[in-house]
Amino acid sequence: MKRLVVLASGSGTNLQALIDAITCGELEAEIAAVISERPDAGALGRAVAAGIPALTLSLADRRDPAIRAAYDRDLASVVDSMRPDLVVLAGWMLICGTAFLERFPGRIVNVHPALLPDGEASEVTTSRGRLPALRGARAVAEALRRELPLTGVTVHYVTSAVDAGPLIAHEEVPILPGDDETRLHERIKRAEHRLLPRAVSLALAASNEEE
Ligand code: GAR
Repeated sequence: MKRLVVLASGSGTNLQALIDAITCGELEAEIAAVISERPDAGALGRAVAAGIPALTLSLADRRDPAIRAAYDRDLASVVDSMRPDLVVLAGWMLICGTAFLERFPGRIVNVHPALLPDGEASEVTTSRGRLPALRGARAVAEALRRELPLTGVTVHYVTSAVDAGPLIAHEEVPILPGDDETRLHERIKRAEHRLLPRAVSLALAASNEEE
């Protein structure tokens, strides 16, 4: 059975989508552990409820480069000890540093709440023409601020170029009249919950072919 390690900073609805997809047989994998940098992350409670080992690895100061680099090394060692086939960033709000990326080349995937292209282009082709690729932590708010006709969800491989790695799958999400950030993010998350398990399956199948 393929092993996933899930890193999650938030409420964990994407983790839950993976747990549910495994339970119903849509995703053939097991979650070896869930790790958060926030002890209060809802994702940890969801892991415990599902009988999955849940760990907090706190980061003392995210702006101190030495502390940040040591954290990446520690995180890489802990994740490596779980022998994952794939590391899934499911609402992980820290940028992955070099030590972490180098330990799992081509084996880290991320779900992002906007439509991204395959790679580093600044725009993405959509059913409504070319639109800006919204990277970073404010992607949902930014889609509204720019009054885009649509946004979306992307699952991609993680590289040192933030939110710009090779595409696995993406899906458009409409922006509707009267949307605020909460309402739009809820619609985006519903799409994420469909797309993430499928994208993880695709990434696991691709890793099989490489073996
Ligand atoms: C998701 O919308 C995910 O795309 C986003 O955080 C949310 C986590 O929700 N991730 C990022 O913004 C990463 N840059 P969840 O905790 O309910 O799964």
